[in-house]
Amino acid sequence: MLGDFTYCNPTKLYFGKNALDGLKGELGKYGKNVMLVYGGGSIKRNGIYDKVTAILRECGKEVTEDAGVMPNPTVEKLNEGCERARACKADLILAVGGGSVCDYAKAVSVSAYCGDDPWQKYFIRFEEPTCKLIPVGCVLTMVGTGSEMNGGSVITNHAEKLKIGHVFGEEVFPKFSVLDPEFTYTLPEYQMKAGFYDIMSHILEQYFSGEDDNTSDYIAEGLLRSLIHSSRIAVKDPKNYEARSNIMWTATWALNTLIAKGKATDWEVHMLGQAVGAYTDATHGMTLAAVSMPYYRLIMPYGVDKFARYAVNVWGVDAAGKSKEQVASEGLDEMEKWMREIGLVMNISELGATPDMLDGLVKATFIHESGYKVLTPAEVQSIFEQSM
Ligand code: NZQ
Ligand code: ZN
Repeated sequence: MLGDFTYCNPTKLYFGKNALDGLKGELGKYGKNVMLVYGGGSIKRNGIYDKVTAILRECGKEVTEDAGVMPNPTVEKLNEGCERARACKADLILAVGGGSVCDYAKAVSVSAYCGDDPWQKYFIRFEEPTCKLIPVGCVLTMVGTGSEMNGGSVITNHAEKLKIGHVFGEEVFPKFSVLDPEFTYTLPEYQMKAGFYDIMSHILEQYFSGEDDNTSDYIAEGLLRSLIHSSRIAVKDPKNYEARSNIMWTATWALNTLIAKGKATDWEVHMLGQAVGAYTDATHGMTLAAVSMPYYRLIMPYGVDKFARYAVNVWGVDAAGKSKEQVASEGLDEMEKWMREIGLVMNISELGATPDMLDGLVKATFIHESGYKVLTPAEVQSIFEQSM
């Protein structure tokens, strides 16, 4: 049942080939000090940096750069960013990059003035921010996380071997995001494909929870079908604008709170994947792909009606004359075929996980209780073993 809720997503989106034209107007809403956050330099190689800095100059902004945000941003980098944001008295944090850069910008936003250890406060104690927040805007260059229109921020602590996400409230969502599908054309194929699976996992983790007749599930099925269709085109023809723009838009709606409405939501695949990430620093979407099939095959009997619906409505499995279990299982077979066809990583060994990490991986996996099956530690271990 949908239940009662208030819905607001405050992020303003500029989408399409001329999306960056929206930046100028947005910049006018904030003071002169802008902290420009980006990653390892892809934006300098593909020209996005030049385009963004030209607009910042035109708007007379005082720009402080905070570069080198790594994929899976670390707690050390976060502490450094907080110092820089305070030193330059940032009126706006402009994140130009993928989910890592956007997540990091949000983490700095809530942490710069929190007067506490941000790792402990937000990622261990899960407290909500009460301090002054620095507004964040994004120019997205990598598609998958949905970070451009949500309050999520995932930080990795290598010393503690933990990768933890905090889903902040709407006051932390980016104020605006610029989504130009052509900005994603220079993504390495591996990253592009990892993003496809991140999107799929976001949708599935909301879809595979609850058993009621919920509008969110119908939307989810549509998003999944669009993703499957467009991903097949994009792997063959990465500069196909129609496919890449559909995927970009799908990614945003996959994780911007809409399809979570009325859903318990699962997120166990993300918990498994984040444990792998904490140990290997592997690419997020691939960590999810590598653990998904053993997980879904394990929980399928506990949510067989929904898995059968998924098989028919998303994968086009013909249910005539078959048992529910058979239909559900064929759906998962089709999903696995698509994953292999796209070229996703199907085991965690390929991501650098080794058998001596097993105990640690099990301990680093948070168990959620909102999916079809609450995993036991032995089941978590078995998923990792099957995925080795
Ligand atoms: O660092 P640069 O040089 O920019 O290179 C990046 C990085 O190496 C590169 N890249 C990005 N755009 C590019 C490009 N290379 C060429 N051309 C472009 N246009 O791609 C690499 C990966 O970037 P990253 O930002 O790490 O990828 P992604 O967007 O997948 O973000 C992953 C992070 O987001 C978190 C993940 O856990 C991970 O830490 N997540 C955030 C979520 C949220 N906010 O709600 C939810 C997700 O489930 C996810 O957990
Ligand atoms: Zn994800």
